Amino acid sequence: MAKIDFTGRVAVITGAGAGLGRDYAIEMAKRGAKVVVNDLGGARDGVGSSESAANKVVEEIKKAGGEAIPNYDDVSKASGGESLVQSAIEKFGKVDILINNAGILRDKTFIKMEEENWDAVLNVHLKGAYNVTRPAFIHMREKGYGRIVMTSSVSGVMGNFGQANYGAAKMGLAGLTNVLKLEGAKYNITVNVILPSAGTRMTEDVMPKEMFDRLRVEYITPAVLCLCSEQCKETGLYINAYAGYFSRSAVMTGPGVKFDHLPTPEEIMEKWGQVTSLENPKFFSNSTEFMASVL
Ligand code: NAI
Repeated sequence: MAKIDFTGRVAVITGAGAGLGRDYAIEMAKRGAKVVVNDLGGARDGVGSSESAANKVVEEIKKAGGEAIPNYDDVSKASGGESLVQSAIEKFGKVDILINNAGILRDKTFIKMEEENWDAVLNVHLKGAYNVTRPAFIHMREKGYGRIVMTSSVSGVMGNFGQANYGAAKMGLAGLTNVLKLEGAKYNITVNVILPSAGTRMTEDVMPKEMFDRLRVEYITPAVLCLCSEQCKETGLYINAYAGYFSRSAVMTGPGVKFDHLPTPEEIMEKWGQVTSLENPKFFSNSTEFMASVL
């Protein structure tokens, strides 16, 4: 297997001042990438800002002989996304790789989920991915090359109590990926999803210490580096990673039942077992393929 090498590649990593993003930045720089280390430097709930998080990671990369610049833009703003992509182009001439990783948490049960907490989380995760990906995508299309990774979560793809805002945003990123994989294919732009579980400040008080210690951040990075590599030509994958375990999740569709007349609700109920069966499921890579399988 040829070594995964990022020499000559420019990577923009959002939220790279800490946790997972920091590790991606350091490891990609070690393998030759020029890295834009973006981080707003706020608290876990998104309040406040500081330049020190991004600066520290850039220092670390430079000390190890790598190349990186800091960026403090707020990805939840469209102007922040534009400015981040622009700063990469100004400094390094292009963007080859984008990892949408910045994130905040504001957990509450749905009953207590006020609009402010709903909006804040969707604005950083989902709108944030739109804000940065759109200018990057336009640029990558012109260059005919791009590797984009979205950061989703099993909280959205599978569900997690008390995370309605976060789960909705994270599942939204999977939907965004389903569309962008199609729109990017012609231009050699791949768009994939990482679903990590790792011990960071985001999870330090939501999981038991023993579990936190086992979920080391470094276990996520190799999968992300694969998805960002030139060798990885696949697109639209959701890759799970934690504690040395790697797998693919996907939206699969059961065989279902086809009526040759307009069925009553009772007729559907009678066949409920078949309607909801997930035996021998199929993967459809787009909605047209799915419609064509029946019509
Ligand atoms: P973290 O809190 O250590 O890192 C997130 C970084 O994003 C922080 O440094 C923060 O300052 C930055 N950030 C927040 N809002 C920003 C904004 N508006 N603009 C720019 N930067 C901003 O958390 P962690 O765990 O490293 O999370 C990274 C990503 O992985 C997040 O998207 C998170 O939702 C996701 N994730 C993490 C999991 C875990 O188990 N740690 C599980 C599933 C998903």
